[in-house]
Amino acid sequence: MQTYILGIETSCDDTSVAVVRDNVMLSNIIAGQEVHRTFGGVVPELASRAHQQNIIPVVEAALKKAGIDKKQLNAIAYTNGPGLLGSLLVGVSFAKAFALGLGVPLIEVDHLQAHVLCHFLHREGKHQPEFPFLCLTVSGGHTRLDIVNDYFSFDTIGNTIDDAAGETFDKVAKILGLPYPGGPAVDKCAASGNADAFKFPVPKAEGYNLSFSGLKTSFLYLIRDALKKDTTFIETHLNDLCASVQKTIIDALMHKLIKAASGSGIQRIALSGGVSANSALRQRLLNEGEKRKWQVFIPDLQFTTDNAAMVAIAGYFKYKQNMLGTHKALPYARQSQKK
Ligand code: KG4
Ligand code: ZN
Repeated sequence: MQTYILGIETSCDDTSVAVVRDNVMLSNIIAGQEVHRTFGGVVPELASRAHQQNIIPVVEAALKKAGIDKKQLNAIAYTNGPGLLGSLLVGVSFAKAFALGLGVPLIEVDHLQAHVLCHFLHREGKHQPEFPFLCLTVSGGHTRLDIVNDYFSFDTIGNTIDDAAGETFDKVAKILGLPYPGGPAVDKCAASGNADAFKFPVPKAEGYNLSFSGLKTSFLYLIRDALKKDTTFIETHLNDLCASVQKTIIDALMHKLIKAASGSGIQRIALSGGVSANSALRQRLLNEGEKRKWQVFIPDLQFTTDNAAMVAIAGYFKYKQNMLGTHKALPYARQSQKK
């Protein structure tokens, strides 16, 4: 028998709804929120209001694109954390009401596990990772290294001790006057820049942990001092600045990934999260993988930044393992608040 799961993702500023039939994605609708652009970052109050406006049309669009009726759904999976509480509450409340109305189970999904599990969405001609594998999850809010032992059994061996990699891309972009979200803008400028033009201190942290706050500060100081001497410094060096800072971030990530691969002996290496959309990071992993005989897993671009297909696939594996949720479940802003 086939299983249809509807996934809902509202943890930050994307309202996304997807439908999977077993591990096959039938639809994945994402409504971004332009409203934050003028503020150069996500405004939580505006995000929850936009989710409220978007959620019903996005659910309808996802069902329509999937070509199924809501009565065919076997369960409703939704992200219940970590994320912005006001944003999560819109998805959680909708999921609960929808599941109750349809008389189907609810499934709670952790946003970071969902990012990792995007690798199990069926893709024609592509392999899925075997367990255990190492996954580097790099997003706007998180930078984490996990040994993934099974769908829901993760050993987190590394974490950022301050800023996330995506947050660093976004801050660098803001300093340079590039639009939000900064990652794609920095990536684009970096493509025609010289990555060795500027040197930044390599961020240091214990073990497999990472740190980016020092890099952010040294970048800020470099720009501040250079602008005092030359007011056109950013314009004339934009591409080189982007390429150099991007290389420093990627060097730091790859250093820990290589260390974790040799420390654990695991040669199956995956990337996930919004920053895994970065073209230089993707290329670097491919190069290192070839050199080190790793089997590498890089998500399709549509599954890198926030999307509900990853929530739906996580929901599918939970459904198969009878890991169903309850209407009492509460969303959590941080991983440490997860019950
Ligand atoms: O996974 P995601 O959509 O949201 C969170 O869970 O945080 O990640 C968003 C982050 C943002 O910081 C954005 O700037 C970054 O991913 N990002 C990129 C690229 N595309 C998105 N960073 C670097 N290069 C990119 N091409
Ligand atoms: Zn995310």
